[in-house]
Amino acid sequence: MDDVYQFPPVVPRGPTFLKSARFIRNPIPVLDKHIRKYGPTYTFYMGGMRKSIVTADQDFIQHVLQKNHRAFEKSPLQTDTLSQYIGHGLLTSKSDFWLRQRRLIQPGFHKQRLQDLTKLMVDETSAYFDQLDERIENMGPEFNMHTEMNILAFRIIARTLFSTSMGEEKLKRLRWLIEHVQAFIIREVRQPFLHWWFDLSGKIRKHIRLAHETFDIIGEMVDMRQEAQETHSDLLDMLLSARYEDTGEGMERQQLIEEALILFTAGHETSANALSWAVYLLATHPDKLRKLLEEIDRVVGQKKIETADLPKLDYTRQVIEETMRLYPPAWVTDRISLEDDTFGSWHIPKGTLYILYLYGLHRSPAYWEDPDTFQPERFDANHRDTFPKLAYKPFGGGPRLCIGNHFAMMEMQVILAELFRRFTIELTEEPEMAPMITLRPRNGIQVKLQHRKG
Ligand code: HEM
Repeated sequence: MDDVYQFPPVVPRGPTFLKSARFIRNPIPVLDKHIRKYGPTYTFYMGGMRKSIVTADQDFIQHVLQKNHRAFEKSPLQTDTLSQYIGHGLLTSKSDFWLRQRRLIQPGFHKQRLQDLTKLMVDETSAYFDQLDERIENMGPEFNMHTEMNILAFRIIARTLFSTSMGEEKLKRLRWLIEHVQAFIIREVRQPFLHWWFDLSGKIRKHIRLAHETFDIIGEMVDMRQEAQETHSDLLDMLLSARYEDTGEGMERQQLIEEALILFTAGHETSANALSWAVYLLATHPDKLRKLLEEIDRVVGQKKIETADLPKLDYTRQVIEETMRLYPPAWVTDRISLEDDTFGSWHIPKGTLYILYLYGLHRSPAYWEDPDTFQPERFDANHRDTFPKLAYKPFGGGPRLCIGNHFAMMEMQVILAELFRRFTIELTEEPEMAPMITLRPRNGIQVKLQHRKG
C-alpha cells in the first residue's frame, strides 16, 4: 500500500527507537544531526513508533501552515490532551468552532486596541522591579531570571485581563494551579507509556480537579465584573463585549472562562522564555548591551516608559526579534494531514504527523548568514532583505498565527527596557536548553543583579 506514496528520506527506525531516551531529554541535537545527514525534510519514527515528517524547510512549512492549511489540523496532542485540562479555548480548539471563536476575539488583539494596555503593563513591571530592588537590599543579589520573568509575565496577563480586581492571594493560587497542571501535562505528553499509571493512581483526576479550581477562580472574576457593571478597558471587558457576527450574542459564561484561561496558559511562559534568553544573550554580548542601553537612556531616560516610547525603542525590538530567532519559545509545532498531501516529488498519506521544526528553520545556513551568532541588526529596517521573510516564524503562521503577537512584543519591550534601565546583570552560570512544550533554560538563568548607577 505504502508504495503509492513517496516519502522524504527516511531515518532508520531501529537506532531511533534505541536512542529515544536521549531524544526525550533534548530532541534538538538529534533533529539537527538528521538535517545535516538527510536535508531539511525527512521521515522520522517518533520514539521509534510513529511515522512522521520533520521539516525545517521554509516552503514546506509555508505549505502546511498557510498555502494548504485546510488540509491540516492541529494534532490531538495540542487539542485533545491539553483541552482535557484547560478546556476549549482558541489554542486547543479546531475546525468551525475555532474559526468562530477566532473571528470573535481577533479584533480585541488589534495593535491599536492594545495601546490601552501599555499603561497596565508599565505599572505592573515598575511595581515588580521596585520589590526586586527591595529584595536585592534584603536578600542579596542572586536571582534566577527565568523564575522572575515567569512571575512578572503571569502578573501582566492577570493585570491586563482583570485590571486590579484580582487580589494577591487569588493571583498566587491561580499561578500555582496553572503551573502545576501544566507541569503534569508535560509529564503526560513526554511519558505516554505511563498513562495507565497516571490514571490508576488518580493523578489524572487530581489534576483535572485542580484545573477546575482555575475555572472557578476565573469564573468569580467574571461574575464580579458583571455584577459591578463597571468598565475597565482590559481584556476581560473585551471578551465580555465581543459579539458573534451571526447571532449578535456574546460568549457563554463557561466559554469565556476557558478563553481567559487559554490567554494565561499561552501568554505567559512563551514571553518569559524569550525574555530570559534575551537576558542571557545581552549579558554575554557587551557590545550589543551597550547599544541597547544607549537607546534606553536616550528614549526613556529617568522617567517611566510611555506608550509613545515603544516605536522609538527600535534596537530593543531588534534584540527581542533576534532572541526569538535563536531561541524560539515555540521551538516546534505540529499538524496532522486530513487528506493525502503532495509537496514537490513527495506524496504523503492522510493521517501523517508533520513536525514543523521552527528552531531548525531559524538556524538554517540556507537562509541565515552566521546562523548561530547573535546579531540583532539583522532586524534593522535596512537589513531585513538579507534573509527570506518565510524563514522567520516565532509566532507561527497562516490562520493560526499567534493572536497575542503584538501584545507579546509590547510586553517584552516594556519589560526589557525597564529591566536594563534599572539593573546591571552578571551571568553566574551557563544555561542549557530544555525543549519542553516551550524552549526553556533547564536550570533557569542564574544572575547577580545590581542597581544601575548613573
Ligand atoms: C513571545 C511570546 C509568544 C510566542 C513566541 C508565541 C508563539 C505562538 C505560536 C507559534 C502559536 C501558533 C501555534 C501553532 O500554530 O501551532 C501561538 C498561538 C497562540 N498564542 Fe502565542 N505566543 C506568544 C505570546 C502570546 C501571548 C502573550 C498570548 C496572549 C495574550 C498568546 C496567545 C496565543 C493564542 C490564544 C494562540 C492560539 C491562536 C489560534 O490558534 O487561533 N501568545 N503562539
